[in-house]
Amino acid sequence: MSKRIVFTGGTGKAGRHVVPYLLDKGHTVLNVDLVPFDHPGVNTLIADITDSGQMFNALSSHFGMDEFATGKGPAPIDAVVHFAAIPRVLIQPDNETFRVNTIGTYNVIEAAMKLGIRKVVIASSETTYGVCFAEGDKDFHRFPLEEDYDIDPMDSYGLSKVVNEKTARAFSMRFGADIYAFRIGNVIEPHEYDMFKDFLADPMSRKRNAWSYIDARDLGQMVDLALAKDGLGFEVFNATNDTITATMPTAEFLAKHCPETPVTRELGEYEAPLSNRKIREVLGFKEEHNWRKYVSV
Ligand SMILES: NC(=O)c1ccc[n+]([C@@H]2O[C@H](COP(=O)([O-])OP(=O)(O)OC[C@H]3O[C@@H](n4cnc5c(N)ncnc54)[C@H](O)[C@@H]3O)[C@@H](O)[C@H]2O)c1
Repeated sequence: MSKRIVFTGGTGKAGRHVVPYLLDKGHTVLNVDLVPFDHPGVNTLIADITDSGQMFNALSSHFGMDEFATGKGPAPIDAVVHFAAIPRVLIQPDNETFRVNTIGTYNVIEAAMKLGIRKVVIASSETTYGVCFAEGDKDFHRFPLEEDYDIDPMDSYGLSKVVNEKTARAFSMRFGADIYAFRIGNVIEPHEYDMFKDFLADPMSRKRNAWSYIDARDLGQMVDLALAKDGLGFEVFNATNDTITATMPTAEFLAKHCPETPVTRELGEYEAPLSNRKIREVLGFKEEHNWRKYVSV
C-alpha cells in the first residue's frame, strides 16, 4: 500500500538509492536533510535533526506546493525513515558525532511519536558489533553475528547507534509503536563493485565489516518491507546481503581466519557472518543484488 513517508538523510549515500526505490513502489516521500536531493518527484525540506522544533515542523509539513490545493492543511504522515547522521568516525570530532546522532535520533523519534506517527525505521549500524572502529585487532565474540549479540563498541559512532537503539526501544514501549532499527552493513552502491577484487585479494581487510555488505538497492527493498510489516513493536534487524564477501564457504573461511572465535550454529554454505536470517524470515527479504552478479571470481 502506498504511504506518505518522511525520510531523513535522503540525500546521502544510502538514501539516494533507497528514496528512489520507495518512489518506484508508489510511496510519496519528503526528504529532510541539510543538503537538497536533486531527484524528480521528491522535495527536500532543509532542516536540522538536532533541532527538535524543526523536526516537529518537518513531521507536520506539506510535502510540496501541490498539497496547498486540498485546503485541508498537511495530510497525516504514515511513517518516518530516519537515516540522517554523521555516518562514521573521523568526519567530525567524536563528541559532535555522538551529539548529532543521539540527539538527532531522539528528536526525530520523539516528534514522530508525539505527532501520532506509529511506524519508524532507523539506521543503526554494523559498528554496534564492536569490531568496525575498534582499537587494535579485536575479535568478535561469536559467529554468526545476530541480533541477540552483546553489542559492545568502544568508539563514539558505534556507541551513538547503541544509544539510538535504546531510545527507539523506550519510545516504542511508551507509545505502543513499531520502531525497527536496521543494523546496516557496509553500504555498496552499484558503481562500487569494482572494490570487491581488493576485498577478495586481502580477506583480512574486511574483518571490520565481518565480511558482509548491503547493496544500496537491496536496502531499499528492506525499508519497503519494514514499512509494510506492522505490529512488531521494537525490533532490530541486521540489514546485510545473503553471502560472505569471500570465495570460500563461510564455515571453512572462519575456521581459517578466526580459529579462536566460536561458531554457535550451523552456517549456510556461503552465509554472511553478519547474518540476515532474521530479516529474510520475518520481513521476507529476497536479495536481488548478490555481489557475484557484478564481480567475476
Ligand atoms: N554507509 C554505510 O556503509 C553505513 C553503514 C551502516 C550504517 N549507516 C548509517 O546509515 C545512514 C545513512 O548513511 P550514509 O552512508 O547514507 O551517510 P551520508 O553521510 O552519505 O548521508 C547522511 C545524510 O544525513 C544528512 N545529515 C547529516 N547531519 C544532518 C543533520 N544534522 N540534519 C539533517 N540532515 C543531516 C547529510 O546531509 C547526508 O545527506 C546513517 O545513519 C549511517 O550512520 C551507513
